[in-house]
Amino acid sequence: MVVKSKGLNSKTAKLPVLSKEAQNRSEQKAGTIRIRAVHKTFPQFDAPDIPVLVDINLEFRAGEFIALIGPSGCGKSTLLRLIAGLALPDQGSLNLDDKEIHGPGYERGLVFQDPTLFPWKTVYENIAFGLRARRVYQKEKNTIPEFFKLVGLEGFEKSYPHHLSGGMAQRAALARALVNKPKVLLLDEPLGALDAFTRMNMQDEILKIWEHRGMTTVMVTHDVDEAIYMADRIVVMSSRPAKIEQVIQVGIGRPRQRGDPDFLDLRAKILQILHFAGTKQELPYYL
Ligand SMILES: Nc1ncnc2c1ncn2[C@@H]1O[C@H](COP(=O)(O)OP(=O)(O)O)[C@@H](O)[C@H]1O
Ligand SMILES: [Mg+2]
Repeated sequence: MVVKSKGLNSKTAKLPVLSKEAQNRSEQKAGTIRIRAVHKTFPQFDAPDIPVLVDINLEFRAGEFIALIGPSGCGKSTLLRLIAGLALPDQGSLNLDDKEIHGPGYERGLVFQDPTLFPWKTVYENIAFGLRARRVYQKEKNTIPEFFKLVGLEGFEKSYPHHLSGGMAQRAALARALVNKPKVLLLDEPLGALDAFTRMNMQDEILKIWEHRGMTTVMVTHDVDEAIYMADRIVVMSSRPAKIEQVIQVGIGRPRQRGDPDFLDLRAKILQILHFAGTKQELPYYL
């Protein structure tokens, strides 16, 4: 059964129905993200400024799995970077629980499409990096094996990143973010560089980790099937300047089947929304 909800631009928007998985979360493990009236414009050197995000209002509840989807260049990564605290909004505010986000923090882990591991460090040292940076390595190093097990990299502690396949490197990047036990995991097209089979495996791996660890997860993807397969809710963004086109609740029980009629109905609906969201962009040339 698929339930759809409108965007959360209206102050009267109802809170989302939490999935069974998200309901079992403790508030200590997960955080609520509130995005209020956020605007972001990038100044250009010799051209008019680029407004990227316009009046974005969203709330991601503790333990939810959110997929952000929208046309290329619409501002998905910008929104994720604002949540990560790597950039600040021009107007509006972003909060994690009752604290306003003013900069990066270990309670918000970020994983990019490119695993960005330190090539000169072993996998162990890459994963231990966050603990060392926080000066808690001695106290928390006993937890590292748990994260190797969680991402299925046991036995690769002494390997270097260039020894790893794409999927394994992305698992190491995930473990590096997870070792800090973030309340929020931010994933920016984390599976975009993987082949189709590895990608489907990694979707299951990430879901397993999400169910096990319980953190709020926000994943940017431009793969509609991936969004429906994984997320509790899908935020569809319009082309730049990005507005929230629609927030769609995926009311399909897990594990989801990609050929299920509800799955296919939702897929057709999202593709249609994305088509219209994409056509508003004025191309400066003819194809
Ligand atoms: N630091 C920056 N300076 C100037 N323009 C930027 C910067 N970051 C992103 N942009 C522009 O903002 C728009 C949205 O970028 P981005 O958030 O990366 O899109 P998406 O992730 O949806 O593909 C793009 O036009 C991009 O060129
Ligand atoms: Mg991006």
